[in-house]
Amino acid sequence: MKQFGATIVGTGSYTPERILTNHDLEQMVDTSDEWIQARTGIRERHIAAPQQATSDLAFEAAKSALAQAGCRADDIDLIIVATISPDRPFPNTACFLQKKLGADQAACFSLEAACSGFVYALQVAASLIRTGAHRRALVVGAEKISMFVDWQDRNTCVLFGDGAGAVVLEATTPESDIFLAANMGADGSYAELLTVPAGGSQMPPSRQAIEAKKQYLKMEGREVFKLAVNAMVESAKSVMREAGLESSQLRWLIPHQANTRIIQAVGKRLAVPEANVFMNLDKYGNTSAATIPICLDQLNRGGHLTRGDYVLMVAFGGGLTWGASLLRWPGTEP
Ligand code: ACO
Repeated sequence: MKQFGATIVGTGSYTPERILTNHDLEQMVDTSDEWIQARTGIRERHIAAPQQATSDLAFEAAKSALAQAGCRADDIDLIIVATISPDRPFPNTACFLQKKLGADQAACFSLEAACSGFVYALQVAASLIRTGAHRRALVVGAEKISMFVDWQDRNTCVLFGDGAGAVVLEATTPESDIFLAANMGADGSYAELLTVPAGGSQMPPSRQAIEAKKQYLKMEGREVFKLAVNAMVESAKSVMREAGLESSQLRWLIPHQANTRIIQAVGKRLAVPEANVFMNLDKYGNTSAATIPICLDQLNRGGHLTRGDYVLMVAFGGGLTWGASLLRWPGTEP
């Protein structure tokens, strides 16, 4: 039996100042604004400054989430940062964030599930809160994914952007738990479809690795595309089944933002009207684990969420990994 429930009490997000447009990319690789928009839906993306680390992006998003939650950094007893672009191999990025925030009461770890990272982290944090082990958690998705981008590879360099999003979760009564259903899945047999080959224990950084450009992100776009649609649809259906909800009851579907065509295919197969499918990738591109919390914060701060709204977040990413989380939005009555 659950001892506690978990709820969201604040959201925040941050994207770096520098904007890289499709027209800028036309000067860098053989591409065009028309191709990028037609094939991906992306017009521009934010790119972190050289001196900005992932924890710096996370810090800005976290400050804003904490301010909205009305709590101090030392009220937080757990920090999870979902990222595949950590500040360093170790210590984990959540420790760097903890130091910047002064959240000295928090246990800290990072979680690596690529674009599904935030959905995974939310499920882990909510579960820990329900057991009573933690009372107030900061859950962040933050990526400086540009560190893996080969700016000479037109197949990938047009797709990604940097950013961070955060939520503050708090313990509540089991009856007020907002998380209705969630799932997480993975299939490691597809690992090679989307990967950064060098920089880890399998292929440590070396001159040869760098000369062969193995430190950059490699992707089989077409294969990932097909798998992404299926994984997101099945994951989303499964949480709706578990919660006993129909897609017509959703106020918002927040899909991972990798490609407009993927999002449209998922929305169509789930029978969610376009007006209820949130999209912001024209301005941000794919920010990996940061995508979903940035979307959630934009909906929240834009006044597009009211108490009782059903929100379904669904993601997929390198691994392959996927996951979905269905919640009923808390907050004051409209
Ligand atoms: N500009 C112009 N032409 C290009 C570009 C570009 N930027 N990129 C590729 N092309 C060319 C290709 O070379 C190819 O030319 P060819 O036919 O002469 O070989 C042609 O366009 C078509 O290429 P496709 O790969 O078939 O293009 P597609 O329509 O599949 O779009 C894309 C490619 C956008 C990558 C798409 O497959 C996609 O979005 N896949 C999913 C990617 C994804 O979702 N990743 C998310 C996970 S990220 C994570 O977890 C970190």
